[in-house]
Amino acid sequence: MMTVCHLSTTSTNNNQNVDSLPTSKPIEVFRKDYQPLPYKVDTIELDIQLEPRKTTITTQMTITSSSQTMTLDGDRDVIQLQQVELNGVLLKEGTDYQVTASALTLFQLPLHTPFQLTTRVTTIPEDNTELSGLYQDSSGMYCTQMEAMGFRRFTYMADRPDQMATFARVRIEADAHQYPILLSNGNLVEQGSCENNTNRHYAIWQDPFPKPTYLFAMVAGNLGVLQDSYTTKSGRHVDLQIFAEPHQTHLLQYAMQSLKRAMQWDEDRYGLEYDLDLYNIVAVDSFNMGAMENKGLNVFNTAYVLADPATATDTDFERVESVIGHEYFHNWTGNRVTCRDWFQLTLKEGLTVFRDQEFSADMNSAAVNRIENVRALRGRQFAEDAGPMAHPIRPESYISMDNFYTATVYSKGAEVIRMYQTILGVEGFNQGLKLYLERHDGQAVTCDDFLQAMADANQDIDLTLFRRWYSTPGTPVVKYRGEWNENGTYQLHLEQETSDGDPLHIPVSVGLLDHATGKEVVSTQVLNLKESQQTFTFSDLAGPVVPSILRTFSAPVKLVPLEKDNESSVLAFLAAHDTDGFNRWEAVQRLYTSLIFHHLPSKEESSSTWNYVEQAFARTLDTCLDNSDYSISAYVLTLPSESTLAEEMDVIDPIGLHQARSTVKQQLARRFQSVLMEKYSALTELLSQTKELKFDATSIGLRRLRNVLLDYLCSLKDTPEECDQAAQWAMNHYQAATGMTDQMAGLSALVSIDNPFRQDALDQFYQQAVGNSLVLNKWFTVQALASTPTSLETIQKLYQHPDFTLKNPNRVRALVGAFTMNAVAFHQPAGYQFLGDVLLEVDALNPQLSSRLASPLLPWRKYVSGPLMKEQLERLLAQPKLSDDLYEIVSRGLK
Ligand code: ARG
Ligand code: ZN
Repeated sequence: MMTVCHLSTTSTNNNQNVDSLPTSKPIEVFRKDYQPLPYKVDTIELDIQLEPRKTTITTQMTITSSSQTMTLDGDRDVIQLQQVELNGVLLKEGTDYQVTASALTLFQLPLHTPFQLTTRVTTIPEDNTELSGLYQDSSGMYCTQMEAMGFRRFTYMADRPDQMATFARVRIEADAHQYPILLSNGNLVEQGSCENNTNRHYAIWQDPFPKPTYLFAMVAGNLGVLQDSYTTKSGRHVDLQIFAEPHQTHLLQYAMQSLKRAMQWDEDRYGLEYDLDLYNIVAVDSFNMGAMENKGLNVFNTAYVLADPATATDTDFERVESVIGHEYFHNWTGNRVTCRDWFQLTLKEGLTVFRDQEFSADMNSAAVNRIENVRALRGRQFAEDAGPMAHPIRPESYISMDNFYTATVYSKGAEVIRMYQTILGVEGFNQGLKLYLERHDGQAVTCDDFLQAMADANQDIDLTLFRRWYSTPGTPVVKYRGEWNENGTYQLHLEQETSDGDPLHIPVSVGLLDHATGKEVVSTQVLNLKESQQTFTFSDLAGPVVPSILRTFSAPVKLVPLEKDNESSVLAFLAAHDTDGFNRWEAVQRLYTSLIFHHLPSKEESSSTWNYVEQAFARTLDTCLDNSDYSISAYVLTLPSESTLAEEMDVIDPIGLHQARSTVKQQLARRFQSVLMEKYSALTELLSQTKELKFDATSIGLRRLRNVLLDYLCSLKDTPEECDQAAQWAMNHYQAATGMTDQMAGLSALVSIDNPFRQDALDQFYQQAVGNSLVLNKWFTVQALASTPTSLETIQKLYQHPDFTLKNPNRVRALVGAFTMNAVAFHQPAGYQFLGDVLLEVDALNPQLSSRLASPLLPWRKYVSGPLMKEQLERLLAQPKLSDDLYEIVSRGLK
């Protein structure tokens, strides 16, 4: 590993003796080095005094140790140790204890008998720009984010998930006027004003469930609240409260409805009930991730909890529902049963993403949901798995755990859970989950324990080989060839290629369609592919068949035909006849992909592919109003994203790809212009029939479809007349919009057309955004994604805008994150340079954010402009002060 000056060590992570290692370079922690702690903290009591620029935290722990020496985690840069007491006696630094940059080590402790250790630290949450530990939100409230390792930035403690303590008493004290609301986990046991100072007040909380440090939370602020309640199936009355800044409480209704739906769904589907009398959620604007499942006190990024028709798009609403569900479902899969160490993260995240996906599928449309999730998986996870950050869903090592909250751990992890369900059947899977939760309730366990519970509940099915999904990185490739025999059999030959050459257990769902009629003759069956090559035989068939393989995307793999001869005609056949909605969509996506690839600068057009695409597009467009699957039609008509397309190329020319995709879009728009206009008007008519804006799947589908049609219509801008026409459509759409979804669709189209309305619309939208941070983010994003010759300059100007701030991760992602997805702005020398500049600035404030923003540079080897991307990585690596987070990403990228 490269040596860069870094001040960090890891003390209680996995092995207890590393605090004596030199502190000169980042430390890589390995899964194989896991060691249990030689002591246990049984109970913990916290006293938190919030005062301007000086917060004091007193921590009292009851501990039993089997070693006389003990090490607690603590980050000396953030917390200053004031004193330590053992059983009420003050200890001396040097002889009784020692403090290093990352740990407090105590000597000569009582063996095997419980003792009390009391520490006092001070900290300045106002200066905590990393948003890990205790910090101040842009609204002024104090809040915490402890996962993965924030607790050590709050007080000294064994900050690892297998150390579960009862938080017996958490007392928070603060100014009563500025911070009227004081919250922590569990139940409120007492509150009042302070006797010695009536300007101050306090609250005392108690959590009956032992928990690891990462699930601790506290909040102090001036907050408004939406209250409701829910009664569980066994009769527990639960108070539900969602807090936000007082002027935002009208935006909490949808989150509350989603929460109640999630509680009901987990009872119905898995028999799982909530276990406390109170469920609190707090919305904060400055947040590194999506949301956090702290026991009884979820903390949410405002983006995933605030929503109303005027400020949130349909996709935002869908996101709120799924994230609310996700954090709620963690109460069982994550909190009641947690992870032994952070390498097991997918144990709770993969499983909980799977659960939130199933929830969303049940609340909305399963097919739509599946398409959306697979699109996201291919767009992000496949790229991660093909680049230098590739890792198994259970990683083997990390420098900064925060870098491993990845698409692989989350989305591919969820696919692995889905494969259990596909292999075991829904009933078998549910039995396995039940056994897992019963067997391990209150414990911190591993992915192996999960697999064991699944296996024990399904003894007729062998899961031995399935285990390899936890240790194998990379996206497997499954190749197929079929053979029809005159004796009425069909042989499907499957091959698999994995990153290490050894086979995985891959469930391949297959159905067969009659070649002559298109009718399904064999309904979906799960083939268990367990060898490198395997042949499956279907018999008693009346005539030749066409296979529909990997239905509903039954495994996270790439499916490739061994014989490419008539690939397009087979895809066209499936697009027309497959009974599996997912594979119908998939077939059209494959056709688009091959057409787009034919338009790459070096390639020639293939007229047969165009004919197949034309047919499929025509059929979808013609029938798109005939049933209520509007979202499906919308997705069938949508071309694969640039990131999904890029993933299939060995050498990526991002600008050429962008142009090829645009060309195909324009060809389709030109060919179908009149039908597109006709359907657009019909949809406008349908939507105007209901006055109030609705958010059911049908209404969302209508808008989604109409916005896809608008996007095609507005892509025609070759001549000044066409530009005027496109701008007129976009502007009309924007002005007539009754909600944020349509507004954004109109505005997004408009900003990529050279026209006089552009600036007016943006100014108007800016006015509308005043006072709403999330809407303002959209104003930044829509411009950052605009495809114009001057995109980069616009983005650089916006970076200097008074409303732009590096302190709010949502704002940074809205501008800089979107910029990196805009091929024409990003993929040029000045674009790479700009990202490098930004990363340096962000890294000094918030390493979790900088390391995430750096990821677009990682796959440089595959890009035609790779050397220029690499230059930025090298520039970053040469910095004397780079965070561990960014160092890990950058050095992996260059390895
Ligand atoms: N457990 C959270 C979730 O629900 C993610 C929190 C991760 N935060 C972090 N800073 N690493 O997915
Ligand atoms: Zn989660």
